[in-house]
Amino acid sequence: MLQELREKSKQYEQRLTAFRRDLHEHPELSLQESRTAAKVLEQLEPLALDIRTGVGGHGIVADLRTGRPGPTIALRADMDALPIREESGVPFASRNAGVMHACGHDAHTAMLLGAAWLLDGVRDRLSGTVRLLFQSAEEINAGAKAMIAEGALDGVKEIYGLHNMPNLPAGLIGTRSGPMMGSVDRIDIVIVGKGGHGAIPDQCIDPIVASSAIVMGLQTAVSREISPFEPAVVTIGSFRAGDANNVIPSEAVLSGTIRTFSPAVQQRMPGIVERIVTEIAGAYRCQAKLVYTEQNPVLVNDAASVGYVDRAIDDMFGRERRVEGAVTAAGEDFSAYLQRIPGAFVWLGSGPQVNAEAAYGLHHPKYVLDESCLPQGAALLAGIAAERCRA
Ligand code: NI
Repeated sequence: MLQELREKSKQYEQRLTAFRRDLHEHPELSLQESRTAAKVLEQLEPLALDIRTGVGGHGIVADLRTGRPGPTIALRADMDALPIREESGVPFASRNAGVMHACGHDAHTAMLLGAAWLLDGVRDRLSGTVRLLFQSAEEINAGAKAMIAEGALDGVKEIYGLHNMPNLPAGLIGTRSGPMMGSVDRIDIVIVGKGGHGAIPDQCIDPIVASSAIVMGLQTAVSREISPFEPAVVTIGSFRAGDANNVIPSEAVLSGTIRTFSPAVQQRMPGIVERIVTEIAGAYRCQAKLVYTEQNPVLVNDAASVGYVDRAIDDMFGRERRVEGAVTAAGEDFSAYLQRIPGAFVWLGSGPQVNAEAAYGLHHPKYVLDESCLPQGAALLAGIAAERCRA
């Protein structure tokens, strides 16, 4: 059946490309994906699916039921675009100024739709249910959690998803067991001192000096408190204080991002950050207000699920198309699903055959995607579900 799905996917290549290009021309930001969702719905409606719309924003949950007892296997695609001005030069570039599908979620959406077409064609040979999740708001780390809160995972045994990878040649697929993408946490810090004349520091409490010490102190969170064998990043990306050269301001405002590769390290970070921020602020006579927000857990692929994916890849495309998936500190809110149920997230090559390492990466204004990955991605998603729901 897997070979049949692969052959069939090639027949859908033109439809998938046209659908993807339409989305590419009309990108929509997180939580604003109303046109995209309407286009998806238009395509899903002729298939016999149980459809819920408006799930976690503009998300769609579509169940393909076989009527035979069996597991519910979920497949997920994200639909949102980014606030980036497109410079790709493609003829179907964004018509929505300042918004671009620079992460290829247009392609992911098309692939999941293609998987729906493919699975509909073999429904009489499947058991259980395939649940299709078209998700909003991945880029702001909100969509997956919102869909889960509205029941998207209820009764689901396993979940699978993919992300195109422009630095991997199209045709190749990367898989990996265990942690593959970093956790994403956000910190917001306000350091409150006492403002006054820049020439009379003794009558002030200087929040800039205290904050500078905090920025430096936070560097030891990773270098002195986390094992060198555990990757972690603490970056303060914004530091705002003061308006005049000769005035000590009353407060400083900092924000930063924290990435880790293990749930245990991620759990330790809030305590470490809070201690460093609060105690250094105290040493400089300032008050510290810290807000620590967990945005994404570490993305951890389930080993058994990766095994099923590997088997599907080998059967459909050949062992030579499968490579070890790269790790990245970038986050992905698919991790929220994997925190709750087993499953796997896969890298689908979407880059040039030569020198893919030098291709423009995800979120770049010149990012482009090799559209030959569209039928392959559709076939892969359908193949995994067919494998797990084999009658
Ligand atoms: Ni993405």
